[in-house]
Amino acid sequence: MCPPDREGAAMNALTGKVAVVTGATSGIGVDVARAFVHEGAQVVLAGRRRTEGEAVAVELGPAASFLTADVSREDDVAALLDFAVRRHGRLDVLVNNAGSPSHLGRIEDVDVAAFRATQEVNVMGALYGIKHAVGHLRRTGGSIINMASITGQRVVYAGVAYSVSKAALINLTKWAAADLGQDGIRVNSISPGFITTGRFGKAAGVTEEQAQARLEALEAYAREQARSLQAIPRPGFGPDVAGAAVYLASEASSYVTGLDLVVDGGLSLGQPGEAMARIRDAMTSVYLG
Ligand SMILES: NC(=O)c1ccc[n+]([C@@H]2O[C@H](COP(=O)([O-])OP(=O)(O)OC[C@H]3O[C@@H](n4cnc5c(N)ncnc54)[C@H](OP(=O)(O)O)[C@@H]3O)[C@@H](O)[C@H]2O)c1
Repeated sequence: MCPPDREGAAMNALTGKVAVVTGATSGIGVDVARAFVHEGAQVVLAGRRRTEGEAVAVELGPAASFLTADVSREDDVAALLDFAVRRHGRLDVLVNNAGSPSHLGRIEDVDVAAFRATQEVNVMGALYGIKHAVGHLRRTGGSIINMASITGQRVVYAGVAYSVSKAALINLTKWAAADLGQDGIRVNSISPGFITTGRFGKAAGVTEEQAQARLEALEAYAREQARSLQAIPRPGFGPDVAGAAVYLASEASSYVTGLDLVVDGGLSLGQPGEAMARIRDAMTSVYLG
């Protein structure tokens, strides 16, 4: 893996801030938490898997702690935010990163209960977070970051329940941003493209361990895909998304709200340069042979 060069990035952009990051037991959430700690924040990580979450908190050092929380349960989310404020005396940043993939298949085969369960995590989880963070964030002039996806804007590789949930999350972000500006609270989303994490294994129905074991194979596939589909011809990694989260959490973005910040290497732009050149040559041959 080759995380982006963080040399030269603004140091300690989050000094003195307290952040909660949900879904920080694996993948992007871990990299967001790591970047926040690196930038001087104190971070409470959350997820359902206690062993994994506690191991990440230990790895990140004394600025990090972990609390078990299922974001589809409103009480868990409220308790998580209360825990952060009790422990650190304030809350400045909430990253609603926890997310659940969904089955890939035809819409006529959709499992309605599973569709609802995806919305419970990806939409309701963020709604509970926003609702219960407002009282705390109003005191600090805080920032809420929702982890959406380019699948919320375009129909690309993802199941219908996941796509719909991320579209709702982008709209929820804008609605909350318009509402909470008067409270000094900014609300933005990040829409990653194809980021190599264990998520795709979960969507394919394999276990977390199997997904982690196949990360190298996924990375090789992502490298190939990036070359043919993206303007930036390399795979995306957690630290690419974490950089965007640091920006939205920090004062550098103090006049930015309601933004959906796309972090996809140009995947959603359309034809990358190479494909465009192939089309141009093909079109030319239609007329000139
Ligand atoms: N990887 C990508 O290409 C990509 C692209 C666009 C958007 N995203 C979004 O980025 C976020 C992170 O995904 P990832 O790729 O890092 O996948 P991941 O490794 O599967 O991480 C998902 C995280 O969400 C947590 N989670 C799931 N359900 C939860 C629940 N009910 N309550 C609390 N936590 C829950 C998981 O923890 P537990 O299992 O311990 O609960 C895990 O920490 C997700 O919102 C995903 O939709 C990812």
